[in-house]
Amino acid sequence: MTFSLENELEVVLPKGVSYQVLNLQSRLKESKCIIHHHKADHMHSYKSVHFIVLLHENKPLLALEAYVYLDVPNDQSQILRTVYISKADTSGLQNQKLSVGRIVQCFLGWICSKSITSYFESMDIPLIIDRHANIRKEHSPFISETDRRLHILIERSKGEKNYGMPKITRKAGFYPNEDLFTDISKHTTRLILFTRSEKQYLFPNSSKNQGKHILTDSQLLKWWMKNVEQIMGNNKVFARMGKKRINVLNADKFEVSRYIPSGSKEWKIGDIYTDKSNLHDAAVYHIPLLPDDPKGRFLEHLVVENRIKKVRMKQFWTELSVRQEFRLGITVGLIGIEGESREYSMDNNNDDMLILFKRSEFNKIKELFVDIDYSDPVDYLRIKEGLKERKIILPVVIGQFDFTTLRQKEKSIHVQTLTPHTLTVRNKRRINPVVVNDIGSLVKRKRS
Ligand SMILES: CC(C)(COP(=O)(O)OP(=O)(O)OC[C@H]1O[C@@H](n2cnc3c(N)ncnc32)[C@H](O)[C@@H]1OP(=O)(O)O)[C@@H](O)C(=O)NCCC(=O)NCCS
Repeated sequence: MTFSLENELEVVLPKGVSYQVLNLQSRLKESKCIIHHHKADHMHSYKSVHFIVLLHENKPLLALEAYVYLDVPNDQSQILRTVYISKADTSGLQNQKLSVGRIVQCFLGWICSKSITSYFESMDIPLIIDRHANIRKEHSPFISETDRRLHILIERSKGEKNYGMPKITRKAGFYPNEDLFTDISKHTTRLILFTRSEKQYLFPNSSKNQGKHILTDSQLLKWWMKNVEQIMGNNKVFARMGKKRINVLNADKFEVSRYIPSGSKEWKIGDIYTDKSNLHDAAVYHIPLLPDDPKGRFLEHLVVENRIKKVRMKQFWTELSVRQEFRLGITVGLIGIEGESREYSMDNNNDDMLILFKRSEFNKIKELFVDIDYSDPVDYLRIKEGLKERKIILPVVIGQFDFTTLRQKEKSIHVQTLTPHTLTVRNKRRINPVVVNDIGSLVKRKRS
């Protein structure tokens, strides 16, 4: 069995219409751990980023960005994969009816069921170039470094054996052993996201497009819950589901419970990081620090206040909920699920359409898509040129879905309609996201 992105998309895209897909991923690279650890509990951490875009006639229609973090403790007892959905957006440029939710479900399902081994197989291991390793003879004095280098090049071109080529080796690093890869009972996958409606996240000026449908905060949380439930609820992505948690900070339990899809008993109000065993631990040892995440901004605030090691789990959530950004009368939902992913290997036919690049090149390709004025009717054409320059040909998927049957199919999952909650709007000031990505160094900096 496999989870083919192409096949999954075909089933949800409108019948007979051709779409292109950019399924971009950065090669796995060693990184700082997203959760602060005691020095003794050394953790090896790796990061990869996914950027998936659906296009029609070269026009980007919707995109999803997700960060994947893999954490392996020194004793190799387990691998924790954290899939963090950082952004989802539409451009409003579609001229066909699309079910954005069902397309996003395909993207989520594909990422969460991808094998952890495949990330390591495509790992970006830095090279070490030792330029002096094979130079056994040097004539001095050289009048400059350029003079010395020129001399080496000239001697090499003459075939002089004392001037060998530089030695290139791969940087030695930690690599999990084979047994840990094959024993997927030792792998845990978390999917986490926080929901907050914005006019646009990835497509600049797209909110000016009449075709763009922007969900309100409350609708957005319902939308995510429905999509997460539909794709993760079936056993195609997760072999075993451990936790399903939802919370809306600054809302009471009754109100939060109304976002839980009816018929689902597994969802609980709370977060996936807290359990009975860690209630009295400092929150910094359990709450991940993620880009553009309100939890991360609060952790940074605790560093500044010199309370980072003092605030316990329960207190963390209580204090976070009274922070300004959660008191603005908006609904910010926190969704987290944890379980054992099915971890499909890549198909030989490459039907997941994946394009892998180092992070630097990945960023340049992503830039092609996010550096466009989407309210301009032709600016998006620059994307096609940029891809052509890089010799990237996007695969085509032809839809098979007949939209008239959609309503009947979706009747099975129903999220209760919600009356808007009555938190007062105190301040509509836009919160500028603070990007914090290394709480360890912040903690150290504060101490010194
Ligand atoms: C979040 C977002 C991607 C969802 O897109 P969408 O087009 O609303 O998603 P869907 O196609 O799944 O439609 C959701 C619902 O809206 C309805 N809808 C879609 N377009 C509509 C339109 N133009 N007019 C009225 N209803 C519309 C759909 O019928 C569906 O209703 P249902 O749940 O009763 O079936 C979109 O609102 C968006 O781009 N928002 C701005 C960025 C953002 O806030 N991102 C969230 C990041 S956390």
